[in-house]
Amino acid sequence: MSYNLLKGKRGIVFGALNEHSIAWKVAERAVEEGAEIVLTNTPISLRMGDINRLAERCNAPVIAADATSVEDLESLVDKAMEHFGGKIDFVLHSVGMSPNVRKNIPYQQLNYTFLDKTLDISAISFHKLMQVLYSKSAMNEWGSIVALTYMAAQRTFVGYGDMADAKALLESVARSFGAIFGRDHKVRVNTVSQSPTATTAGKGIAGMGGMLDFAEAMSPLGNATAEDCADYCVTLFSDLTRKVTMQNLYHDGGFSNMGLSEAVYNGFLKGAKEE
Ligand SMILES: NC(=O)c1ccc[n+]([C@@H]2O[C@H](COP(=O)([O-])OP(=O)(O)OC[C@H]3O[C@@H](n4cnc5c(N)ncnc54)[C@H](O)[C@@H]3O)[C@@H](O)[C@H]2O)c1
Repeated sequence: MSYNLLKGKRGIVFGALNEHSIAWKVAERAVEEGAEIVLTNTPISLRMGDINRLAERCNAPVIAADATSVEDLESLVDKAMEHFGGKIDFVLHSVGMSPNVRKNIPYQQLNYTFLDKTLDISAISFHKLMQVLYSKSAMNEWGSIVALTYMAAQRTFVGYGDMADAKALLESVARSFGAIFGRDHKVRVNTVSQSPTATTAGKGIAGMGGMLDFAEAMSPLGNATAEDCADYCVTLFSDLTRKVTMQNLYHDGGFSNMGLSEAVYNGFLKGAKEE
């Protein structure tokens, strides 16, 4: 069902790799709500992924950009504005990758060259993106910038490794740049802290299946799906949330405020009895 919440708005969506990607669902929902979008991802993911299928469905151009390259980001923003014939109303940063996590390297044995990559791709790219948008005055007033994050920035989760540090930095960048973008251009910047979700990046975390089940059993409303996340992002891009900025917004079925649920407690007791 469409409410036309994004009618007349124009946005850039980073990070749609395949139909499981959270960004894929956001792109579809944004268009359904009346937005015009530009899709972007790395050159390699454009070759390996499915983005052209999404581009057809969304009637959107695909512009290659590595989010760690300022040059690529500058060219992307220029081309997007040319395509739209004007400034941008919303941007989704749905980008993350850790070579340490991918290679199952434990946190106490981090490879620091990989750590640099993790931080650059998953956090500093957000600063680079906003610095480019800011310096080009590319955002319309009351525009909205959202990045996706995970609660491992606040609490430790087994298997999340150096991505936890990247997410903590990402959320800090959102606050710091949010203050400047709000003051100077009336643009809001937020992070959405999403439930574990079975995507390509998600499945890269060791023990993801158990993590999904645990979060599901702990959350009063159950895990938020990628489709739920898309709905939430649409509200954040819309004019209905114009004074929400510099926030880390939990979108997790209540998980972040739970201590212990009946389901987890009963499962624990059952396991203890069986031992
Ligand atoms: N899946 C989860 O459980 C979960 C939970 C909370 C937050 N998130 C976050 O959501 C975001 C999207 O992840 P997803 O779960 O949809 O997985 P995904 O694998 O579908 O998306 C990750 C995207 O990052 C892109 N990417 C990697 N390196 C890049 C680079 N250098 N430049 C540009 N793009 C690059 C990939 O090509 C891919 O499209 C990530 O920030 C992730 O950390 C995911």
